[in-house]
Amino acid sequence: MRVRRCKVLYLEPREKAEFDLESLLAGGNGMRHGQHWFALAPHLGEEIEVDSAERDLLGILSPDEWTDSRQLSDDASAALKCLLKKGLVVGAGKRHAALRERDETLRSVYWHPLSATAHAFTRWHDADAVQATKNTGTETAGELREVLGAPPVEALDRGDSGQRIVLPRTARTDFDQLLARRATCRNFDAEKPLPYALFAQLMERVFSAQSHVRVSDDTVFLKKTSPSGGGLHPIEAYLIVQGVEGVVPGLYHYHSIAHALEPLPAPDRPLQELAMAAVAEQHWFANAHVMVLLAPRYDRSFWKYRNHAKAHRAVILEAGHLSQTLYLSATEAGLAAYITCAINEVPLEQAFALDPISSGALAICGFGWRGEEMVTMELDPDGEIWHTETPTL
Ligand SMILES: Cc1cc2nc3c(=O)[nH]c(=O)nc-3n(C[C@H](O)[C@H](O)[C@H](O)COP(=O)(O)O)c2cc1C
Repeated sequence: MRVRRCKVLYLEPREKAEFDLESLLAGGNGMRHGQHWFALAPHLGEEIEVDSAERDLLGILSPDEWTDSRQLSDDASAALKCLLKKGLVVGAGKRHAALRERDETLRSVYWHPLSATAHAFTRWHDADAVQATKNTGTETAGELREVLGAPPVEALDRGDSGQRIVLPRTARTDFDQLLARRATCRNFDAEKPLPYALFAQLMERVFSAQSHVRVSDDTVFLKKTSPSGGGLHPIEAYLIVQGVEGVVPGLYHYHSIAHALEPLPAPDRPLQELAMAAVAEQHWFANAHVMVLLAPRYDRSFWKYRNHAKAHRAVILEAGHLSQTLYLSATEAGLAAYITCAINEVPLEQAFALDPISSGALAICGFGWRGEEMVTMELDPDGEIWHTETPTL
């Protein structure tokens, strides 16, 4: 059989502490520390422990040239069997088609190997960000300071303050007022439906193609209101709509050229539950009228930036631009917005049928009406929004 190593693979030596009765009975602390090797192969999406024979074989097999397995030693044959089962080595035959296809998909998308690995292994399944802050006693800024000590200084001094060139301050314009009224919203009024026209206006401003340039029959570049690395605009908007007049609550994909909603199959759980899981149980975000999953199509971006060290960074930066355009557009329309990257990618990938190799779940933005009462803290020290003093952080 012809075999080759999967395309991208990092091996991590890791110490694992395990309960050990013998150590406890001998008067020790009941823990045994052992050294283990873990394979991080992004086409599989989950880390896999390997033993020393498997690790050695992974170092011998080429990821590009096929090797005839009959050339391997008897010792290596046992390890090969395990590695084929685990998908770290792929076989050319029919039996190994499914795992080989995952590897081939990864090869075809042109990820930079380190970016692919970080992307694959920083995804969450069922994280609860709220419980995490409770567990660590870091729910408020005061508690953060208490638990973590003082943070690095809030504004950096470089050099002699006497040498500073102090810049003139300008009179505030309407644009400054708009910027001042932008604040992350954690208090949505879920009872008040968002008018259809306002929803459509925001989607058009932030996510639609304003125009396009056709290079050839099959190659088109879009112009949008936010910048995009290479002009490729790889980030798609997938929606969880919960409170828009005239739109059935559910999952949608937004078509940026047609300026249209594409209804998607209902999720496998109630919509509100998916919304909560999506934002890692941050209830202050989960009842936004519209939640927008920013889902990059990495295959489009990396079509140009092949195996490029900066390509993933460019996509992440682009999400920030879209988010700021959304914040400002929402603020201008009298609405409120947020962004979070504390998201459970895995249920989102399942709900929206996204393959994390070629696309992915990067961040969630939300928008809608701000409520009347600040139940969850918002940062508004000058009272621009709430016209009240900010409660203690
Ligand atoms: C990339 C990014 C991720 C964020 N994630 C969260 C989050 O998970 N939960 C949250 O409550 N706020 C989140 N925020 C909002 C910040 O907490 C907020 O921007 C910050 O406190 C400053 O407040 P302001 O946006 O009102 O100026 C995030 C902001 C950014 C830019």
